[in-house]
Amino acid sequence: MTSRPNGEPLVRLSGVNKWFGELHVLQDIDLDIARGEVVVVIGPSGSGKSTLCRAINRLEPIEKGEITIDGERLPEEGKELARLRADVGMVFQSFNLFAHKTVLENVTLGPVKVRKKSKADADKRARELLDRVGVSSQADKYPAQLSGGQQQRVAIARALAMEPKVMLFDEPTSALDPEMINEVLDVMVGLARDGMTMVVVTHEMGFARKAGNRVVFMDGGRIVEAAEPESFFTNPQSDRAKDFLSKILTH
Ligand SMILES: Nc1ncnc2c1ncn2[C@@H]1O[C@H](COP(=O)(O)OP(=O)(O)OP(=O)(O)O)[C@@H](O)[C@H]1O
Ligand SMILES: [Mg+2]
Repeated sequence: MTSRPNGEPLVRLSGVNKWFGELHVLQDIDLDIARGEVVVVIGPSGSGKSTLCRAINRLEPIEKGEITIDGERLPEEGKELARLRADVGMVFQSFNLFAHKTVLENVTLGPVKVRKKSKADADKRARELLDRVGVSSQADKYPAQLSGGQQQRVAIARALAMEPKVMLFDEPTSALDPEMINEVLDVMVGLARDGMTMVVVTHEMGFARKAGNRVVFMDGGRIVEAAEPESFFTNPQSDRAKDFLSKILTH
């Protein structure tokens, strides 16, 4: 997939800066993400990838700059923030499912509480989504009874149940055993093909090549380079990207 959809950006970061105390973790980040675009974020540990995702979702406040989702600036707090945050689905490295709720309950909780869906509608939609991610037979189990790959697919279904406009994935496969990585990546490739707007922090280059429209390379809190996946992997421009790729390619 190389074509990039047109139209005004769905997510826009302009002049975004964030500090943790003295540490300048996001430095002058400008990034526009189009509707249906899949942006893969890569970079060394500590470069600010997770912080970038968390800032888009306002799990982390920013000190300077602006982030808009579908033209709306993220509010500081309150009901509006809850609503806009629900537009942004997030899937983390650790699956973060509610341990004492069944798979089905995990997926229906948000739609009922935040989206005010009826239990029946939420159940119906949840079952469709669990089917889509290939775990429909696990609906009545508890998270601990599932494999890591299954839990992560439930986490994806749970995020999708909120009908988000954009999905953020922060290293969704890095806690998984190798044989489970592909079952999660396959679900993500399917989502990308269906036109979901996605920001994906991952070092899975197969995914980037298959589903990514753009790779954004971060280092030291900055976007150092951004390019189409094929061009980034075969012909990185900056020394920092070359150095980083030579390290991950040898593992
Ligand atoms: N809550 C926090 N308080 C203070 N410093 C933080 C906090 N969270 C992250 N940092 C620091 O901010 C920098 C960026 O962290 P971040 O987690 O965004 O990096 P990353 O690119 O996601 O790294 P990794 O590949 O290891 O996940 C790091 O130096 C990290 O130590
Ligand atoms: Mg991280």
